[in-house]
Amino acid sequence: MIDIHSHILPGIDDGSRDTEMSLKMLEFISGQDIDTVFMTPHFYADINDPETFLLARRKSFEKLVSAITKSGIPCPRLLVGSEVHYYRGIGKSEHIDKLCMGKSRFLLVEPMFRDWTPAFVDEIRELGFTADLKVIIAHIERYLDQDRDLVDQLLNDRSIYIQANGEFFTDRRTRRKALKMFGEGKIDFLGSDCHNMTSRKPDLEEAMEIITGKFGKDALAGIEENNDMLLREAMEGS
Ligand SMILES: [Fe+2]
Repeated sequence: MIDIHSHILPGIDDGSRDTEMSLKMLEFISGQDIDTVFMTPHFYADINDPETFLLARRKSFEKLVSAITKSGIPCPRLLVGSEVHYYRGIGKSEHIDKLCMGKSRFLLVEPMFRDWTPAFVDEIRELGFTADLKVIIAHIERYLDQDRDLVDQLLNDRSIYIQANGEFFTDRRTRRKALKMFGEGKIDFLGSDCHNMTSRKPDLEEAMEIITGKFGKDALAGIEENNDMLLREAMEGS
């Protein structure tokens, strides 16, 4: 399994604050059935200068890799992406390629938390044509109270990929809804969206167990197929 959404890179956003915390998170993940992790720090166009962000991300990655080598901890394969908060004109940014997941054209987009508009949904749906991007909507569960028709347009658009957080499944308050969406084939990718080892731990294995407990051991085959495609393109380019 791949965790496609995490905030493990140290000192770059509101996720892991230092390499020590990152190592603990990675060690915890390595005990789970997860072989690859995408590290996806937040990118906000209104506060992050793209070049400064990309340099900070590279330095943070190098620091982490050096700490992993020194510590000798078991570690999953690590790849870098970002979680790009939506902004108008997102596809026109000259740096958008480098914000994608590895070498792929998959872009993890964090929609605004409220006030979805038809213009926003139209722009997201057109990014495949206008910018040759494959959009993955981050943590869909946070947007289910937005205008239902707009949410459905994204859920039903087969060119848009949908990611859900492990917490959607592990939280008893939302589990039923999460499993219903999963059963309807609405979820394409899973991520822990982990930020630390306390309130937002890497919890993907627990979510996977809940899914296979409900739908059987082959239930994750579709997710694994999407993961294979993402991994191939992230490592080789698309
Ligand atoms: Fe996130």
